[in-house]
Amino acid sequence: MLAVDKNFVLNMFGLKGKVALITGATGSLGSAIAKGYGYQGVKVMMTARNEAKLKALYEEFTAEGIDCAYIVGDPAVEADVARIVEATVKHYGEINILVTAAGVSKPKSILQQSTEDWQSMMDANVLGTYLSCKYVAKVMVEQGKGGKMVLVSSARSKRGMKGYTGYSTSKAAVDLLAQSLACDLGEYHINVNTFNPTVFRSDLTEWMFHDDNVYQNFLKRLPIGRLGEPADFIGIASFLASDASNFITAANIAADGGYWGN
Ligand SMILES: NC(=O)c1ccc[n+]([C@@H]2O[C@H](COP(=O)([O-])OP(=O)(O)OC[C@H]3O[C@@H](n4cnc5c(N)ncnc54)[C@H](OP(=O)(O)O)[C@@H]3O)[C@@H](O)[C@H]2O)c1
Repeated sequence: MLAVDKNFVLNMFGLKGKVALITGATGSLGSAIAKGYGYQGVKVMMTARNEAKLKALYEEFTAEGIDCAYIVGDPAVEADVARIVEATVKHYGEINILVTAAGVSKPKSILQQSTEDWQSMMDANVLGTYLSCKYVAKVMVEQGKGGKMVLVSSARSKRGMKGYTGYSTSKAAVDLLAQSLACDLGEYHINVNTFNPTVFRSDLTEWMFHDDNVYQNFLKRLPIGRLGEPADFIGIASFLASDASNFITAANIAADGGYWGN
């Protein structure tokens, strides 16, 4: 008899009833994942710095029957992260999933880039991710039930590009942060992975969809034949949060339409 548990297989993608904390929840990607999780019955705590946007999402999602809440804060400020994590546990009783979707890109040649701009990318992309993982890890370890951390990286983490000294470096750090955290937290059954998208539609990238030269240049390197949409990543974010990915940790998973070259 093959050791395949029918009950496990039938339920391994199910997220219903889990509690997720999502940073950058006001962004294109974070809000899509929040809604996608919410539709699957996940209880979603959304956090970001912009209260008006959080409130609007909260109203939109609750009108759709999604169980969600929000708390304002900056993931790169340690006191904020401590408060956000504490508030999530207070509101929902536990945290099973962390998604770090907060991030920023300020492309510019190193010859023009200010050290402040470079530091702001390191703070938002690296320090913010580190602090969120650190505080959620403590909660997950105390709960003793394992957990899933889904860190948003980028295809740029593996491929430098003109103007991307700050962003690529920060996302490469996120990739190795996930690998190292996975080593720290594996014994607690906490899985830590990144998914690494190429360009998808957001406020920052909308112009690329309207500049034919830029779009066509990307298409040459995209076997899938189009750039991404935020909803394209709900699948990988759900898989990495589910029992179906229990044996996957320390991975940097390309979610990039087969993107190749620079
Ligand atoms: N769009 C792409 O093509 C693409 C490709 C690969 C990877 N990514 C990554 O995907 C993630 C989400 O990107 P997105 O395209 O959805 O961007 P977005 O729509 O601009 O959202 C960015 C999110 O991060 C927060 N944020 C922005 N600047 C921040 C800062 N300095 N400190 C802390 N939080 C900040 C924003 O919330 P508040 O301003 O309300 O705090 C917002 O929720 C980022 O990590 C990005 O690097 C994007």
